[in-house]
Amino acid sequence: MNGKNEVAASNGDSKVFKVNPLNYDDIVRVTESIKALVTLNENPTVGIICGSGLGDLADQVTEAQIVPFSKIPGFPSTHVVGHKGNLVFGKMGGKSVVCLQGRFHPYEHAMNLALCAMPVRIMHQLGIKTLVVSNAAGGISEKFQYGDLMLLKDHIFLPALAGFSPLVGANDPRFGQRFVSVHDAYDIKLRKMALKIAEEQKIRVHEGIYVMSGGPQYESPAEVQLFKTVGADALGMSTCHEVTVARQCGIQVLGFSLITNIANLDADNSVEVSHEEVLETAKEASARACKFVLEIVQNL
Ligand code: HPA
Repeated sequence: MNGKNEVAASNGDSKVFKVNPLNYDDIVRVTESIKALVTLNENPTVGIICGSGLGDLADQVTEAQIVPFSKIPGFPSTHVVGHKGNLVFGKMGGKSVVCLQGRFHPYEHAMNLALCAMPVRIMHQLGIKTLVVSNAAGGISEKFQYGDLMLLKDHIFLPALAGFSPLVGANDPRFGQRFVSVHDAYDIKLRKMALKIAEEQKIRVHEGIYVMSGGPQYESPAEVQLFKTVGADALGMSTCHEVTVARQCGIQVLGFSLITNIANLDADNSVEVSHEEVLETAKEASARACKFVLEIVQNL
C-alpha cells in the first residue's frame, strides 16, 4: 500500500474542533467527518487495531482508502515509532474492515484513557461488530519464546485499578452501560477459532493473561515478578482501555500479543529492553501475524 490511496483532507487542519471523548455527539461528529473523507459502499463490520510493529496488518487491506490521523478533525496524533497513524478502510478476507494503523497510548496523552480509546467508539459508529486488537508485549510466562503469539484470554487492566479507566466520568447511556461487565471480554468462540487456525498454520500460539502497565518506562524485574505472581503471562502498555470501551458498546473482541521480548524477572540477571528490539522482533514475525489475522477475519 502506498500514499496513492491516501484521501485528501476536505477540512484542512485536523484541529478545527476540539473533541470531548465522553461526549456522544462529538463522537458522531468525528465519525461523520471521517465518512466524508472516504467512499464507503458498505459499512465496515470488522475493526483491527495494529500494535507496535504490526502495521503491516493494514497492508493486507485491498481496495484501501487511507485516512491519515492528521486529517481527522479532533483526532489526537501518535508519535510512537512503528505506528504510522492512519485509518485504513477496505476489504480483508471478503469482509469490509477498518484498520487503526497505529494507536493512542495513555502515556502519550496524560493518561486520558477515554481519548485513547476514542477510535473504538468511532469504529462502533462506523458499524463494526468485531474488534481484532493486537499489541507487542513482553513475555513473562516461561512458555513464551521471541516471536510467539499470545491470544488474550483475559487481562489485568492495572491503570483502571488505580482509577484510570476510559469509563471514568459522565456516562452517556448511548455509549452503553455505566457498569460494564468484562467477565467475557475476549470472546471464547473467537478464541477457539483462532487456536484452530494457529494449529492449521503451525504457528506458536498460547492463550494467556495480558497485563497493561502505564509505561512508558519498561517494568523493573520486581514489577515483572509481581505480575507473574498474580498470574500474568505477558505485559504491555495498551489494549485494555480499547477492549473495555468495545465491550461497553457490545463489540465482540479477539486480542493477541506478539511476544517481542522476554521480560526480566531477576535484577541480578537482566538485560536492557529496548523499543528497537521490540520493533525488530515484530518485523520478523509480521508475515506470520498477517497470515493468521487474514484467516481469522475470513472466518468471522
Ligand atoms: N513491557 C511493556 N510493554 C512492552 C514490552 C514490555 O516488556 N514489550 C513490548 N511492549
